[in-house]
Amino acid sequence: MEANQDQQRHLTTRQGHPVTNNQNMRTLGNRGPAVMENYQFLEKIAHFDRERVPERVVHARGAGAHGVFEAYGTVGNEPAASYTRAKLFQKKGKETPVFVRFSTVIHGGHSPETLRDPRGFAVKFYTEDGIWDLVGNNLKIFFIRDAIKFPDFIHSLKPDPITNRQDAGRAFDFFSNSPEVLHMITWVFSPWGIPANYRQMQGSGVNTYKWVNKAGQAVLVKYHWEPVQGIKNLTQAEANHIQATNINHATQDLYEAIATGNYPQWELLVQIMSDEEHPELDFDPLDDTKIWPADKFPWLPVGKMTLNRNPANYFAEVEQSAFGPGVLVDGLEFSDDKMLIGRTFSYSDTQRYRVGPNYLQLPINSPKNHVGTNQRDGAMTYKVDVPAGTNPHVNYEPSSLNGLVEAPETEVPYEPEYAAARIMRRSIDRTNDFGQAGERYRSFEEWERTELINNLVDGLKAATPFIQEKMVELFTQCDADYGKRIAEGLKNA
Ligand code: HEM
Repeated sequence: MEANQDQQRHLTTRQGHPVTNNQNMRTLGNRGPAVMENYQFLEKIAHFDRERVPERVVHARGAGAHGVFEAYGTVGNEPAASYTRAKLFQKKGKETPVFVRFSTVIHGGHSPETLRDPRGFAVKFYTEDGIWDLVGNNLKIFFIRDAIKFPDFIHSLKPDPITNRQDAGRAFDFFSNSPEVLHMITWVFSPWGIPANYRQMQGSGVNTYKWVNKAGQAVLVKYHWEPVQGIKNLTQAEANHIQATNINHATQDLYEAIATGNYPQWELLVQIMSDEEHPELDFDPLDDTKIWPADKFPWLPVGKMTLNRNPANYFAEVEQSAFGPGVLVDGLEFSDDKMLIGRTFSYSDTQRYRVGPNYLQLPINSPKNHVGTNQRDGAMTYKVDVPAGTNPHVNYEPSSLNGLVEAPETEVPYEPEYAAARIMRRSIDRTNDFGQAGERYRSFEEWERTELINNLVDGLKAATPFIQEKMVELFTQCDADYGKRIAEGLKNA
């Protein structure tokens, strides 16, 4: 039943009943009381009562956009195929649709976008082999290196469970007992902790992944996004100034840039290392608190991403989008990075709760290639993955009645070997918690160092004296001048 053009504009209920009066509920007389058999009212209010889904437990505040990734077909000067068989990278000019969600980390859904925090940079590639999610941040490293610490780390930064206020004293309590955070907090308390907007910031996969070629050989790989728009950060004073009148400036900036055809672009670059422990390095290549030095492991361009379309609906596309670091396609693999493996469980687990068990049926999350599964039912089942020509009565495998069958294996399977070892709970050997933090401190310009010291002192003021002392000790191990200036700052605070 096609509606004519006039009818198409008419309000209806979700049952398709015309709504002829959207201003008044049904009542006994025009002064009430209201009657219960008013389906239109009940449906409208009941749906409103359920408008929210739980916000993300972290990265609740975000903005998203659609776009396209174009491959160079090469990794630096070599064919991409030398390192990876992932189809999206093989041919120069090959385009893959993407959806990107940028975010802050700690604060809630409508918090100011000027707050000091890393920024999330999550990219969903709709490849011909299914979805690849590259779920990273703007900075190249992270606070901790073992996934089991993540809930504690996040609790220390979220509001106090009694006062419901964030308390830097709690954060520095955790930091002072977790020296691996020193490198990351040196970045976050510098101007790099407040990117000017989402367009003018870098991105990084942060964790170490692998690439696998046709021969089944693997290398370790790190991903980086470099903004064509350049990088811009804010001082605390600049951020305060923006926040006084606008708490949505980054969402606004992204939306307006795309709406006016000023499409933001990022080049994707990778760093490659042979798949070994590399005892010659003073850090472990699987430690996400470390940067792989660019002079030893050059950044090699592999493609470019352009964001060129705003979401048609924020909730359907941005809020319900679901990214996961475990979502890889053939030619891309996990490394043994302990954070990465822990993250792999967490994302899809939370999404089954946050969005629902059938979250992968939503258009924003579902792959654009063929999907055939025997997964059935559950809340909000929207469709059944039965490809044309297969028997819809068969929702199991194996079967001789024309059900789904296993796909043929077309590539050499990647089967990493492990030497026999004991299972244990222990930190990695090469922790080197202070080296790169000190290097970073020394490589900042003087105005950046001053910002860093002021921002850290400002936060540390809330900590108890013995935690302040512990932090000064840790900063001193990074660099004597770093520790001295924090100690002086605290004395004068
Ligand atoms: C073990 C450590 C970590 C755990 C357990 C963890 C867990 C989570 C969870 C539960 C979410 C919410 C997902 C959702 O509701 O859809 C999330 C979002 C996110 N995380 Fe992590 N995370 C960890 C570390 C990291 C690291 C190291 C990075 C950066 C590389 C990162 C980047 C992100 C981003 C960008 C999002 C937002 C994705 C989006 O836009 O929807 N996380 N994380």
